[in-house]
Amino acid sequence: MNYLKGKKILLGITGGIAAYKSCELVRLLIKKEATVNVVMTENAKKFITPLTCQTLSQNPVIESTFDTMHGAEIKHITLPDEADAFVVAPATANFIGKLASGIADDFLSTIALAYTRPILIAPAMNVHMYENKIVQRNIKTLKDYGHIIIEPASGYLACGYEGKGRMEEPARILERIEYFLAPKDFSGIKAIVTAGPTREHIDPVRYISNPSTGKMGYALARKLAMRGARVVLISGPSTIEPPYGVELVRVTSAEEMMKKTEENLDDTAIFIGAAAVADFRPEKPVSQKMKKEKKEKKLTLTLVKTPDIISEVAKKLKDGIIVGFAAETENLMKNATEKMKKKGLDMIFANDLTAAGSGFGTETNSGYLINRDGTVKKFEIQSKEDLADQLLDEIIPELKKKLSR
Ligand code: PMT
Repeated sequence: MNYLKGKKILLGITGGIAAYKSCELVRLLIKKEATVNVVMTENAKKFITPLTCQTLSQNPVIESTFDTMHGAEIKHITLPDEADAFVVAPATANFIGKLASGIADDFLSTIALAYTRPILIAPAMNVHMYENKIVQRNIKTLKDYGHIIIEPASGYLACGYEGKGRMEEPARILERIEYFLAPKDFSGIKAIVTAGPTREHIDPVRYISNPSTGKMGYALARKLAMRGARVVLISGPSTIEPPYGVELVRVTSAEEMMKKTEENLDDTAIFIGAAAVADFRPEKPVSQKMKKEKKEKKLTLTLVKTPDIISEVAKKLKDGIIVGFAAETENLMKNATEKMKKKGLDMIFANDLTAAGSGFGTETNSGYLINRDGTVKKFEIQSKEDLADQLLDEIIPELKKKLSR
């Protein structure tokens, strides 16, 4: 689900070099079908022009409290009242200091005081300014008043210094706005998601694995966290950036995944096994790189079974909901149903690997959610993010049913 569709986003831009990145944020918000109203401070206009923001946002930019361009409306009251989210990016030390002290001496600081809900604030400044105790105190004050600070990243700063102070990337700020707007129907619920492949090493440089990228599992973890769940994401090797608000536990092998799952199982209400876990591992992995012997034409590997993580979870988690995935190349429904029953799951997503754009490594997925009670729901091809949301819509009533028994 697109949590930004039709939402009104008020974006304040203050005077820092990171203002150029805010243009990209406006573009991303518009792409997500949000309505964007940009407010710029005098100093912001020295870095980027109002015309740029107006063109990107398709809305007039407000530059001054006494802006007469916007009719008789009292904009410093109506704009914050109508906004679904208020974001200030970049937020300079000056803006942060003014808000923390209740100063309203321009349009942006005036609407910030007139806004009654949390403001998402993305600081950007020189590392020494950011570390300054006064700035840190002001940031703490804003946090204490319930505002949301989108921490700056560390790295090379435009002023030539290295350190913390670089405004978070627009895509990550967008993600935080989505978190803010998402429904919180999973709040108070702990969920574990497994994702990605496992690697079963033969020697230090060779292993048995599969093409899972982790996209499906990471999408589920991100959506669960956005919707308020406490999420532990146990991931095999993956290059995907961890979603905000998720506790990421990195593992390599099936055995490690089992161990970390057991360690995190307490209080878990939902377990989703999206990982493609190896069913077998080499019996005797060797500690040094194997040498190729000239006379040997064959190499025989003895494989032993790995633990079936989801089956073990199903035995222990009697009050929770356990959802498996089954990626199949043939007899999709029969094989998936058998797996669900054999492993003692509540639901299984039958992932048709023969359907175009579905399965390993794709941005999209399609398939059928099979419930233990025999009902089946079809999911057409869509992004893994949207599918994750729709699967969660099916999981939450099942959990409620189970908990009410
Ligand atoms: O990561 P992506 O590139 O986005 O790809 C997503 C995916 C195709 C990997 C994912 O959507 C998917 O279908 N995952 C399940 C892969 C699979 O075929 O699993 P399986 O049939 O081997 O196992 C069935 C269930 O048991 C799964 O929930 C699996 O996580 C679990 N299992 C399997 C073996 C094992 N030793 N322990 C387990 O927990």
